[in-house]
Amino acid sequence: MPATPDQPVISMRDVVKRFGSQTVLDGINLDVYKGETMVIMGGSGSGKSTTLRLMIGSFLPEEGEIWFFGEPTCGMGEAEFNGIRRRFGILFQSGALFNSMTVAENVALPLREHTDLDPAIIDITVKIKLELVSLREHADKYPSQISGGMKKRAGLARAMALDPEILFYDEPSAGLDPVTSAQIDKLMVNLSQQLGVTSVVVTHEMDSAFTIADRMAMLDKGRILRVEKRSWFEQLRDTPEAEAATLDDDHRLIRQFLRGDPDGPITDRSSDVGYEQDLFGDSASFPTAVPSLEPTRGG
Ligand SMILES: Nc1ncnc2c1ncn2[C@@H]1O[C@H](COP(=O)(O)OP(=O)(O)O)[C@@H](O)[C@H]1O
Ligand SMILES: [Mg+2]
Repeated sequence: MPATPDQPVISMRDVVKRFGSQTVLDGINLDVYKGETMVIMGGSGSGKSTTLRLMIGSFLPEEGEIWFFGEPTCGMGEAEFNGIRRRFGILFQSGALFNSMTVAENVALPLREHTDLDPAIIDITVKIKLELVSLREHADKYPSQISGGMKKRAGLARAMALDPEILFYDEPSAGLDPVTSAQIDKLMVNLSQQLGVTSVVVTHEMDSAFTIADRMAMLDKGRILRVEKRSWFEQLRDTPEAEAATLDDDHRLIRQFLRGDPDGPITDRSSDVGYEQDLFGDSASFPTAVPSLEPTRGG
């Protein structure tokens, strides 16, 4: 069934992911609609990359369901899921280029592996993809000969090789200087506007998130606190201090994260584990006589 504008292209329903005894994602519900850019944000270790890896099928959930283009993926065999994976482009943190291949060869790789196209057609397609990311004149360079930003752009051209309907990005601006990272943001916006690609972007960088997002999902400790349009988060970020004091915990936590404030619920939480408990462990009663820090002889 083809996806309609009202039908999510990706749907996560009550998804739970565990690694051993650790529950990393605890009941994720998230819909991504055709053509939109969904930013998944949250602190380090909140489960962003795991969410992305579940979407692209590199992990399976312990509970819940993930739907693509209106079809449940649970129970799909590897071959059937590969049919869906063909409709994805993925840009990993590092760009993940093969160092022994030129930029053009890297971009050609998915076309060689997944299509029967004539080499001449592949060459033209590669040129078009490289032009999209302004790298056409660097086609014959090796990854070691280009900058970090250019590697990211080359990775993006490769992710675009098979004309994906959905692009997944994990921390696309990680490790880039502010100007280069702004250029990547601009490129992502252009691709989404010109080609209508649906994008799912994981990031903790708020400047980037507010530049590219249509909607944003705030992840915290494996739960989605809120999914809203970008403007909702902008308004929360810009809520004055006096007004913010009257907000509930979740709102204040999201506001602190969006603003990058040093003080707030996120900070309070990390110091919640009492100092005494930290020193003396979980033993119910801690000594009333606090050990003296004075040096003691013969101790
Ligand atoms: N393959 C794995 N095996 C075990 N634990 C993992 C694995 N991947 C992630 N985790 C754990 O899951 C939690 C969330 O990780 P991750 O999704 O990478 O967070 P984020 O991308 O938001 O920084 C972390 O505590 C991490 O240690
Ligand atoms: Mg991550």
